[in-house]
Amino acid sequence: MKREAAENEESDDFAEDREISMPQLELSSIVPWGRSLEEYVLMFDLTESDRRKRILGCGDGPASFNAEWTRDGGSVVSVDPLYQFSAVEIAARIEEIRPTVMAHVVGHLDSYRWQVIQSPADLERVRMAAMTRFLEDFETGLVAGRYREGGLPRLDFADRSFDLALVSHFLFLYSDQIDADFHWAGIRELLRVAREVRTFPLQDLSGARSGFVDPVVDALTEEGRFTAIVNVDYEFQQGANEMLVIR
Ligand SMILES: C[S@@+](CC[C@H](N)C(=O)[O-])C[C@H]1O[C@@H](n2cnc3c(N)ncnc32)[C@H](O)[C@@H]1O
Repeated sequence: MKREAAENEESDDFAEDREISMPQLELSSIVPWGRSLEEYVLMFDLTESDRRKRILGCGDGPASFNAEWTRDGGSVVSVDPLYQFSAVEIAARIEEIRPTVMAHVVGHLDSYRWQVIQSPADLERVRMAAMTRFLEDFETGLVAGRYREGGLPRLDFADRSFDLALVSHFLFLYSDQIDADFHWAGIRELLRVAREVRTFPLQDLSGARSGFVDPVVDALTEEGRFTAIVNVDYEFQQGANEMLVIR
């Protein structure tokens, strides 16, 4: 399955493994593209009280969230299959895919809200600054155990290792590539390792609310879990301004 690289696109391989297991990644199939701490704060409505929490960033990829949150004294571990590659390899892949991603954005201007990020050039600057920050931090963070290779649906952490798990632009977004069983198993695993899970966005790549959101929310609510769909002050993909909170 091959598609044109989009702003949010990462790997073409999610749907090729029908068992609920993590797909084998080849660097040539990955589109590493990452967001900043400022964007994470808005997407997940992070507040002062979250600064004291043990946070898991699941699927953080080349986002600068871990580097910046750590710099500010926070506690975070990021887990992503991308971290099997070196900083040099990831940097080279970013440079390789950058023109394709930007061409896609320019070709789909109406899919995005150009307010905080004002133009494609602004977007490229913001994303490259975040990814450069990640790359500068990656080797130090690997040694410190802040970046861990791995991924859903199985995480190599003990039960309740974290207070809060954040999932940015992975679950629900790729609903055309990762199926309902994977979402379900992934969310269960996140709830095993963290007391609270927040995931953003609830839209898929087409911009529509993922068809997996309501069944997941209904089933978790029926089990007695707290669930809430919360409006947040972040909207770049048109209509994508809600996170799901599960406790
Ligand atoms: C679109 S990127 C989002 C990166 C970052 N969270 C952000 O918002 O800037 C999706 C990320 O999901 C990661 N990913 C792919 N398969 C995964 C899995 N099975 N478990 C966790 N993350 C995975 C990719 O490597 C990639 O870094």
